Amino acid sequence: MQEQHTDRSEPPRLRLDNITVRFGGLTALDSVSLDIPAGRIIGVMGPNGAGKTTLFNVICGVFPPSGGSLELDGSGFTPKPHRLTRHGVARTLQGLGLFPGLSVRQNVAAGLAATSHRGLGLLALPGAVRDEKRLAVRAMEALDLLGVAAYADALPDTLPYGIRKKVALARALVSEPRLLLLDEPAGGLGHEDIEELANIIRTVPGDGCSVVLVEHHVDLVMAVCDRIAVLDFGRLIAEGTPAEIGADPAVADAYLGVEVA
Ligand SMILES: Nc1ncnc2c1ncn2[C@@H]1O[C@H](COP(=O)(O)OP(=O)(O)O)[C@@H](O)[C@H]1O
Ligand SMILES: [Mg+2]
Repeated sequence: MQEQHTDRSEPPRLRLDNITVRFGGLTALDSVSLDIPAGRIIGVMGPNGAGKTTLFNVICGVFPPSGGSLELDGSGFTPKPHRLTRHGVARTLQGLGLFPGLSVRQNVAAGLAATSHRGLGLLALPGAVRDEKRLAVRAMEALDLLGVAAYADALPDTLPYGIRKKVALARALVSEPRLLLLDEPAGGLGHEDIEELANIIRTVPGDGCSVVLVEHHVDLVMAVCDRIAVLDFGRLIAEGTPAEIGADPAVADAYLGVEVA
């Protein structure tokens, strides 16, 4: 219920300022402005085609916006996909995106590789990350955090979907991001796995990392998010606490439209 974005001393982790994305004649995002505060979990909801994945793609530099700008921790931000780790941004993909030919451990270590090659000090072990062994250790720590270290040597395709989802999350977390983007992490998970996922997501802001959670699973979003933004046809139609969003008639309308269709 309390207002969280009036603190002027600290810029938001991420600020979207009037972001517009057009694909030919289609406006996928229409002047969307949104602040992601540091250390908070922000949900992004909306019916299929609302522009949720497009929002992530803009934040990740997959395509530049047709209009508007981004700020990361108060500075202008022009994301480039290959430099995301360097900016402290990590994402999981809708689906899994694991490398089938690599072991679970190698998949997670791949989440660090981009950082280590550039020799950045974002990690707690500056310099040491070049060392293969250190990479493996860090990967194991991330797998351990998610309770799936026992599968380190397995190939992803041999594992149940819920375990693979955790591996994908470990790969995103291993770089110790300050902004974590999760695109439908609950997709394909059963009820118990979703509860576990909720608990994992809740722990992420403990390190000051902000989380943006795109998810169809309304219960999960309501349960873990500090604030929720709702997109419909590329427009931000509501933003507020879970209670506010749950009581917003415009949000109900957007979802009702989907049910009727
Ligand atoms: N690369 C693209 N080229 C053309 N149209 C796209 C592209 N990506 C998304 N769109 C369109 O933009 C709209 C928003 O899509 P998307 O962001 O994937 O929605 P969501 O993730 O909310 O389901 C949809 O109408 C979709 O068809
Ligand atoms: Mg999507």
